[in-house]
Amino acid sequence: MREKGLTEKEVFRLLLSHKEKDELYEDGRILNSMSTLPLEIARKAHMMFFETNLGNPDLFPGTVEMERDVIRILSSLMHLSPPNGAFLSGGTEANFTAAWYARETRGRGRMLVPQGAHFSLRKAASILGLEFQEIPLAEGYVMDVGALERAMGDDVSIVVAMAGSTIFGTVDPVGEIGKVLEGYDAHFHVDAAFGGFVLPFLEDLGLFRGAYDFRVKRVDSLCLDPHKMGMATIPAGVLLFRRDMMAPLSFPSPYLTREATPGFLGTRASGAVAATYAALLHLGREGYREIVRRCMENTLFLKSLLEDEFEIPVDPVTNVLNVRVSKPVEYRDYLREQEWYVSAIREYGTLRMVIMPHLSEDVLVEFSEELIHAKRVIG
Ligand SMILES: Cc1ncc(COP(=O)(O)O)c(C=O)c1O
Repeated sequence: MREKGLTEKEVFRLLLSHKEKDELYEDGRILNSMSTLPLEIARKAHMMFFETNLGNPDLFPGTVEMERDVIRILSSLMHLSPPNGAFLSGGTEANFTAAWYARETRGRGRMLVPQGAHFSLRKAASILGLEFQEIPLAEGYVMDVGALERAMGDDVSIVVAMAGSTIFGTVDPVGEIGKVLEGYDAHFHVDAAFGGFVLPFLEDLGLFRGAYDFRVKRVDSLCLDPHKMGMATIPAGVLLFRRDMMAPLSFPSPYLTREATPGFLGTRASGAVAATYAALLHLGREGYREIVRRCMENTLFLKSLLEDEFEIPVDPVTNVLNVRVSKPVEYRDYLREQEWYVSAIREYGTLRMVIMPHLSEDVLVEFSEELIHAKRVIG
């Protein structure tokens, strides 16, 4: 550490030099991220509450009220009544918390997830000492319900279904999975970290049908991330639950005003709570629907630009598009050299693009030309 501090000007000069090296969502060249540029109002709200700490809620009753409102609005969006949930730091913490609850209430058994589920689940299983088991996918890249049925047993602590999977953006048959689980005590968690802010609005637009949330009675918990398609700031994740899940996950906190503190984190950054609150109120259902409509139109537009050149393994269900390529890593690295960012999915031999709100039609045309050129170069 320096003995004498730098002036504000000097520090900002350094900050700027780092910022200039970072990619910007605004440039539209990021197609490998489920995050985007937050709404301006969300950024301002975040700054208004950047120092508040929900780890010590008695000091910040106003922030607690906002958290409660966010849970109420999102519970209603996911058809959960009465509202019930917790504001966390993102999908990883939400998936971990669901698995933690399952282990505390069902014991150290197996965790069943569809193949290709987000790696946070494998991480949670590792930390919690659960046996991680992947269920194969059926046609349409969703969990094979027959395979799940065969894998089930009384030693299963938790089953996770995806509503907007990380790789394909697909939605597991949550209703059918719920039926399979009826004879078992396993906790049933839906990972809608990505799809939670997409599917309700696709339903409004008549572009998606089927229940993936608390309309399925067997669903115990579900997570959705305001810092992905929710247009809020990082770190923002929400875990909703039918029955209180935090009581078994609460520990004495003698030096705070509350006797027990729930969940994994102590100090909890609360700017993102305010940002989520602001985004929800400002956009309303209409605003989110418009964002999702544009993302979905852009996804289908990109598909139309690429489908003559590449096989499309699954028709986009949400705003995620995969194209089959001969050498995914080579394609990804080639595109990266041209400052385009996509994901290489080795297991399925695809390139994955997430069509977030920061992408425009013009940029997608430019991108498709570059990708088709990559095919000429790589083969
Ligand atoms: C479906 C799904 N679940 C969980 C996560 C983890 O979320 P986070 O990175 O916010 O911890 C992701 C991240 O992309 C995801 O796509």
